[in-house]
Order: sequence, then C-alpha cells, then structure tokens
Amino acid sequence: MENILEVRGLKKYFEVSGGNLHAVDDVSFELKQAETLGVVGESGCGKSTLGRVVLGLLDATDGSILFEGKETARLNKNERFSLRKNMQMIFQDPYSSLDPRMCVRDIIAQPLLIYRCLNSKDEIDNRVADIMQTVGLDIRFAFSYPHELDGGRRQRVGIGRALALNPKFIVCDEPVSALDVSIQAQILNLMQDLQQEKKFSYLFITHDLSVVKHISNNIMVMYLGGVIEKCESDQLFEHPLHPYTKGLLAAIPIPVPGAKRERELLKGELSSPINPKPGCRFVNRCFCPTDLCGRQQPSLKEILPGHFVACHHVERVNDM
Ligand SMILES: Nc1ncnc2c1ncn2[C@@H]1O[C@H](COP(=O)(O)OP(=O)(O)OP(=O)(O)O)[C@@H](O)[C@H]1O
Ligand SMILES: [Mg+2]
Repeated sequence: MENILEVRGLKKYFEVSGGNLHAVDDVSFELKQAETLGVVGESGCGKSTLGRVVLGLLDATDGSILFEGKETARLNKNERFSLRKNMQMIFQDPYSSLDPRMCVRDIIAQPLLIYRCLNSKDEIDNRVADIMQTVGLDIRFAFSYPHELDGGRRQRVGIGRALALNPKFIVCDEPVSALDVSIQAQILNLMQDLQQEKKFSYLFITHDLSVVKHISNNIMVMYLGGVIEKCESDQLFEHPLHPYTKGLLAAIPIPVPGAKRERELLKGELSSPINPKPGCRFVNRCFCPTDLCGRQQPSLKEILPGHFVACHHVERVNDM
C-alpha cells in the first residue's frame, strides 16, 4: 500500500510569556492507506497539536507534510479547500463539538452544503439517511438535537459528519475517551468496520494505550512534544523498550482481582515544554539516568527492525 501521509521533522512552537513552548518537536512518521497510526502519551505531550498541524488547522513552525505525495504547505487556496475534503477530524467530546442549535440531519448535511456536493434537498436527505445508516443511527433521530442524544449516539453523529465527504484520512482525537466502556467498544468496532469498508487512514490520538491496542497497525509514543518510541502495535505491547513506554504499560489496570505488577510505575510529572533544556526530556522520571542523559537528547534509532527508540541506554534498560 502507498503512503497517504508522510510527515518529516514537524515542529510547532507557541510563543508564550516565558519563551517558546515546544508543543511538537521534530516529529516524523508515515501512514499507509487503510491503516491506523496510534498516537499515545500523557496530557500535554502534544498529541492534539500534532493532529491540528497535520490537518492544517494550525501552521507548522517547521517541517514538511506530504499528503498523497504533495507538500500541503505549497498548495494554493483552491487546492487547500479540496484537500480539506479528504482530511477530517473526530473530536473527543461530541457534545461540545456539535452545534447545539442544529439537528442531526443538518449537522451531517453541513459539509455537503459547504462543498456543494449535492444539489437538491432530496439528494442531501438521501445522503444523510445513508450516512446515518452507515454509522448505526436510526433515522428517527434525524430531527433530534445533540442534547437529546446519549454520548454514544452523539459520537455517531460526529463520525457521520466526518464521513459525509468520503474523506481518505481522519484524525481521531480521543474519540472514545468521554464514553462509557461498553459504548467505547461499540464505537471502536464501528470505526474499524468503516475503515475496512471505506479504506480510511486514521491518526488515532489517545492517552489510553489499551484503547489503541487493537485498532492500530503502528503506535507512536510521544513525550513532551517528541517521539520516544515507534513500532508495530503488537511489538509495542510485547516488547516495549523505552522506560516511559514500560511505565505507561504498567499503568494499565490488570483485570484480575489481587493481581500485582512487577514493573516500575511512572512517578513525577512532565517537565516544562517551555524552552526545554538540552538532554533527554524523560531524564527526571527515568529509573536509570546517567550524566549523558542530562547533557544530550537521544535521537530516535532503529534498535530492532521497524522498532525505533529514543534512549541512550536502551540496551542496558532491557538487558539486550
Ligand atoms: N494555542 C496554544 N498556545 C500556547 N500553548 C499551547 C496552545 N495549544 C497547546 N498548547 C500547549 O502545547 C502543549 C501540548 O498541548 P496539546 O493540547 O497538544 O497536548 P495533548 O497531548 O493533546 O494533551 P491532552 O491529552 O490533555 O489533550 C501543552 O503544553 C499546551 O499547554
Ligand atoms: Mg489533546
């Protein structure tokens, strides 16, 4: 399969009163058609900013974004407008991302009207009915308002709106985090079924590793704006190599009463992303830091085939 998206050396810095806040700092990845890249990391590590920059909702400070081989920053206004059709977003909180004054039919029809895809009211009504059926929403909800729906149905509306223009790529920013666990599974299954049928590529953002385990082909772990580990999903769960990823996995609850973890749990907090010091950004939380870690930022290296890690002492940490 072809790469639909290639991101190289992407940076997004915000100017804040204390200096430059490095929200996304030198992130590179690629995504193939019909595949999912999971992006995980704690609150504030830059996941949403990455998604927004990739979609063009925020300008990049540096780096390149190629969509279907074309540099998105070099597109003219019309090309950018067409590109936006192919790149959509599903948000975490369907309640605040849906206009409370619009009914379900109008919310799903809105992108069709903006892009003038269909002409007559009948065509639009038929397309909305199709989309509602695709996302598992009964047509009797067509004239309901977001506040009249439960969380799962609201998220189905959010997904329907993202699907309306038949996009190729969807950024899913914590799409199930606000939902009950049983509803989470339904929505994840729906998203997977839709991917198989329509060959979407997903950038699936979450702070919860267990959510991306089954939906992702590859997973990228972010820490303070940078990528610290990247590999296939199964490999990440079976052989995590970075001390941070090990800590994240250890934090996933074991569904067995009385079961204990032997692995090290994460302590402390993210350090400040404003004017970050040289050195490894994880140094203050690592269980085996050295002088080198305090001085020099480790680059992302391919330690095993297809398994990239940014740690000076990955061999020692893993007894390799
Ligand atoms: N518009 C902005 N101006 C200044 N700083 C910002 C802006 N948007 C985000 N940030 C900062 O950038 C960093 C990354 O934020 P971001 O929202 O991307 O993190 P996140 O990983 O999505 O977190 P969460 O899991 O809480 O959603 C944070 O330190 C945040 O405070
Ligand atoms: Mg976020």
